[in-house]
Amino acid sequence: MIEHRFEDQASLNAALAGEIAERLSLAVVERDRASLVVTGGSTPGGLYDVLGGLDAPWERVWITLSDERWVDPDDAASNEHLIRQRLLKGHAARAHLVPLKTVHRTPAEAAPTVHANLSGLPRPFDVVLLGMGCDGHIASLFPRSPALQVDGALDVVAVEEPAAAGSPHRLSLTLSALADARWTGLIITGADKLTKARTLDGAPVQMLFDTARSPVEVFWTS
Ligand code: 6PG
Repeated sequence: MIEHRFEDQASLNAALAGEIAERLSLAVVERDRASLVVTGGSTPGGLYDVLGGLDAPWERVWITLSDERWVDPDDAASNEHLIRQRLLKGHAARAHLVPLKTVHRTPAEAAPTVHANLSGLPRPFDVVLLGMGCDGHIASLFPRSPALQVDGALDVVAVEEPAAAGSPHRLSLTLSALADARWTGLIITGADKLTKARTLDGAPVQMLFDTARSPVEVFWTS
């Protein structure tokens, strides 16, 4: 993995937003469309505020989420809610969002439909942005979860994780779908998370480092 350290969150957000906008713009030049996978959680809100205000060919960008809590999209715990509130504003309002949440009762029932919905996005994903939990989870891929071993026909996998924030019922992109990205950024704050990302052998974040098509770039501030 490649580490980028920043003095504060504002400088991290500015640099990472610029990197993402630049890579999306290049992807649109190269293949007329671009795909962006974005994380939920409490860390990236300020990044999304900055990114949404940058001028890029957003009308040629298709956005989906790395994972979703199985709650209504207007629920504050919804990652889709976060993206609609913080990213799809300003210039980025022109982008196309492909949500993970559907009307299905459970993530497992939704998985085939969501996989089909994602099949229209440019692949491999041009940009994947992930966060990381203190246990080394990424998306909704938690340590020792059977979901980590899923590399089947679908790009998404249902996850039941009792301690997960927002909802124990999750739908996540699979590790192989995430690892196939052309570029992956990991946004983390705090020395503890950086240490965990470096040292938690066998954690999902390390599995991503080991399997990613291109080196994961960690954007970190204390
Ligand atoms: C989610 C996220 C999850 C998140 C990490 C870090 O749905 O919660 O997709 O993977 O990125 O849990 O969350 P924080 O940014 O809140 O620390």
